Amino acid sequence: MKGSKIIGTGSYLPEKVVTNFDLEKIVDTSDEWIRTRSGIEERHFVGDDEAASDLVVKAAKKAIEMASIEPKDIDAIVVGTISPDTLFPSTGCWVGTALGIEGVPAFDVSAACSGFLYGLIVADSLIKAGTAKRVLVSGVEVLTRITNWTDRTTCVLFGDGAGSVIMEATDDDSGILSSYWGADGSLGDLLIQPAGGSRMPATHETVDKNLHTIYMKGNEVYKHAVRMMALAAGETLKKANVKPEELALFIPHQANIRIIEATIKRFGIPIEKTMITIDRIGNISSATIPISLDMAVREGRVKKGDLILLDAFGGGFTWGAALIKW
Ligand SMILES: CC(C)(COP(=O)(O)OP(=O)(O)OC[C@H]1O[C@@H](n2cnc3c(N)ncnc32)[C@H](O)[C@@H]1OP(=O)(O)O)[C@@H](O)C(=O)NCCC(=O)NCCS
Repeated sequence: MKGSKIIGTGSYLPEKVVTNFDLEKIVDTSDEWIRTRSGIEERHFVGDDEAASDLVVKAAKKAIEMASIEPKDIDAIVVGTISPDTLFPSTGCWVGTALGIEGVPAFDVSAACSGFLYGLIVADSLIKAGTAKRVLVSGVEVLTRITNWTDRTTCVLFGDGAGSVIMEATDDDSGILSSYWGADGSLGDLLIQPAGGSRMPATHETVDKNLHTIYMKGNEVYKHAVRMMALAAGETLKKANVKPEELALFIPHQANIRIIEATIKRFGIPIEKTMITIDRIGNISSATIPISLDMAVREGRVKKGDLILLDAFGGGFTWGAALIKW
């Protein structure tokens, strides 16, 4: 087999829609501030009885249907997430059982907003190595469960949702043409969920101090995001010898409309060729890119032979990009 290609996409956003005006009622903020600083207008929140794997199962079923396969045809499950059902078992294990897929490897990838890209690159490598033929790759977050609702600088940014793709071995020239990924743990403290791991186990004090929620030094992260999104995109295009003007669609991580605008300006990619979903879904970390890809596919913005660039940056820091020929 030459490589891997995506044969199905699916996504799921929880029913509850929360607007900026709704947030004005619980925290000292305004629709104007959120829209102009981030580009977000609304986001989706999970219901009380929903967890990460429930969202993935709904997204995965749609991807399986589009791919015209059965769950039993999947031979590996990879889930990018930082808000799993449980620290262990992995969300991948819960998803496999819920879909009735038995005995295949299932695991989570923790790379924050780059989680789906990391999962995609891992799945591409598994397929190219002959270890798997058909992989379910998902990104899911239930960020509202790890949000500090007293911190207005972060709580207005995040939402919940899941996106999935089915990747399959291919002999033709479509699929993943190139990818680039990396990490730098020296800046990990700028975007972190400090407590709940072995460094700082749960105590009454960690709960009282909100240390089990997302902490972000937004303006510091912003600078690195702009730089590393450009690096990952540029290196991925260079590896495949593809020029930015040859792209049919650019799907960047949706953390901030200003980061997206800075990235497309740098490459001369027109806004019409850029998938913008942040207004509708907010920042859903690892789920943002697969949800945006599924929206693009279902809105008819992707056709056979199109070159599509995915590009992400997140906590860790981590970054990743992949160039796909559809
Ligand atoms: C989070 C982010 C939107 C904040 O925007 P910003 O322009 O950097 O804003 P700042 O944090 O500098 O805050 C500016 C002012 O707005 C205020 N502010 C912060 N949040 C606010 C809110 N929700 N409503 C109203 N005012 C707010 C601050 O208190 C500050 O006020 P001051 O100037 O009086 O001190 C932006 O930094 C960002 O997108 N960062 C990167 C996120 C990212 O890429 N993450 C990685 C992947 S998830």
